[in-house]
Amino acid sequence: MSASSRSTVAEPIVDEADFLPLKGTDHIEFYVGNARQAAYYYRAALGMSLVAYAGPETGQRDRASYVVQQGKIRFVLTTPLRSGNPIAEHIHRHGDGVRAVALWVDDARSAWRETTRRGAASVTEPYVLEDTHGRAVLASIRVYGDTIHTFVERGAYVGPFLPGFRAVESDLVARPVGLLRIDHIVGNVGWHEMNEWVGFYSRVMGFSLYQHFDDKDISTEYSALMSKVMANGNGFVKFPINEPAEGKKKSQIEEYLDFYPGPGVQHIALATDNIVHTVNRLREQGVEFLRVPHTYYAELQSRVGKIDEPVDELEELGILVDRDDEGYMLQIFTRPVEDRPTLFFEIIQRKGSRSFGKGNFKALFEAIEREQQARGNL
Ligand code: FE2
Repeated sequence: MSASSRSTVAEPIVDEADFLPLKGTDHIEFYVGNARQAAYYYRAALGMSLVAYAGPETGQRDRASYVVQQGKIRFVLTTPLRSGNPIAEHIHRHGDGVRAVALWVDDARSAWRETTRRGAASVTEPYVLEDTHGRAVLASIRVYGDTIHTFVERGAYVGPFLPGFRAVESDLVARPVGLLRIDHIVGNVGWHEMNEWVGFYSRVMGFSLYQHFDDKDISTEYSALMSKVMANGNGFVKFPINEPAEGKKKSQIEEYLDFYPGPGVQHIALATDNIVHTVNRLREQGVEFLRVPHTYYAELQSRVGKIDEPVDELEELGILVDRDDEGYMLQIFTRPVEDRPTLFFEIIQRKGSRSFGKGNFKALFEAIEREQQARGNL
């Protein structure tokens, strides 16, 4: 029912000649003010396990990095050890935030060559990291704002994360919640910049348009945004790109652009195969979610039809449901995980549906607006 004329769903294109074959998301690197404490939040609240570390004890003099993992989801939390370097500058400007969305490839040199040839700005030319566990090749290109993509080639490496990192054997703090993989990673870009970045992902990265939403799909009295979902050739990597649209008052995208400030990663959607269990655990562990009003659940069954999960349980947890021609999906959004209203997480369970939750946008945006109002930013 959510497949209106304004939304298109393209079949993923499996192109033998894909010039940028991606095996998936390798990891996401956050620059944070205090990586040791951030790692504690991701372990005790989000349920990830500390698996690797690099810092002064391992010969890395300028920074410390903690690698946390759950299922195939891998985050790297990096903090500078001194002021006056690019990591410290990034944190000074953005607060805690995503620096790198790293993509897993078979050939990092080819990925860098093909994308820079098509117009990507290079951040780091291909370089080799090596230790007793083998070797990896990395290279980075610039995308929106201060965000980069790092291509990671790790076929000749068997260690805990990347050469230079030491393994952390057990984690007594981790409280896993059943998160399995990254479903999508959303970028907010500036006014009227969405098509520029859609063009970038298409031309430079070989992605194609998977779905789009305009301000008629995604607007309330105050907030509006436009969004296009770009997917790579095999569909493993999906990047929705949002830009603000005119509304009566400041939209959530504008609030992000003001506070981050500038373009950056807005949310990371993490998939589970049992969202009721996962969200129950996350709530017990202190993760805070957006709440939707009772009326949303009163109308739910007539909107999405029969679903496996008891509606009262979904309402208790605040989980949203959307349906398309192929099935349904359940989703919920955390509040921002920093004091700045910037990055947040989505927990998602797909039951056949490829939706990004269009049917939920209105209820969701009204919930976000209540929070913006409370912050004095509406
Ligand atoms: Fe999402």
